[in-house]
Amino acid sequence: MIHFFKCFLANPGTIGAIAPSSSALAKAMTRPIDGAAAVFEIGAGTGAITCHIPMGKTGVPLVLFEQDHHLAVRLKDRFGDALVIEGFFHDTINHLGDLPDNLIILSSIPFKSLSGNLHFSTVEAICNILRSSPNRRLIQYTYFNHVPFVPHHSNLRWHRLTKVWANLPPATVWELRVDTSHRLDG
Ligand SMILES: C[S@@+](CC[C@H](N)C(=O)[O-])C[C@H]1O[C@@H](n2cnc3c(N)ncnc32)[C@H](O)[C@@H]1O
Repeated sequence: MIHFFKCFLANPGTIGAIAPSSSALAKAMTRPIDGAAAVFEIGAGTGAITCHIPMGKTGVPLVLFEQDHHLAVRLKDRFGDALVIEGFFHDTINHLGDLPDNLIILSSIPFKSLSGNLHFSTVEAICNILRSSPNRRLIQYTYFNHVPFVPHHSNLRWHRLTKVWANLPPATVWELRVDTSHRLDG
């Protein structure tokens, strides 16, 4: 907690919060994981959400992305079964090769406070992954009622999943995925 706050003071725009997520928010974020072939978590930080991912039960591969060196080292110590990738998501994602179709991406990235280039590259990397399969989903929270970011691709749509009041500040949980509502069957 203290270490997280120190990270925030050193780099407020990229850390984006003064305290880790509450367990109520972590539960709301991890609820959609059921049935996923793999789980990515971008911006795992201290592991406040990670520790609610039911890895042991499902045996689903878990990959954690964290740009802060000290937080990444702690994640490696704490979550030995996960693959922890240190660095910015858009810089490191291509090293993973082919991704599973049924992939869930949990994200805590503070899009509102990210600098312009970092914001653009991160959104682009996430949208490219999502648009190649309607089974891939991004779960993201915000501290306000607007969508986290505007996707670069028009076939992706945001869905508001829930509001979590038991968090400081209260948060809204969103899902982004390919919009299949206009497809014709047969
Ligand atoms: C608001 S904190 C959330 C930490 C934790 N997941 C939680 O909910 O308490 C955001 C985290 O995202 C990390 N981060 C921000 N942008 C990132 C990026 N593009 N790639 C990887 N990590 C990033 C920050 O270093 C920070 O640890």
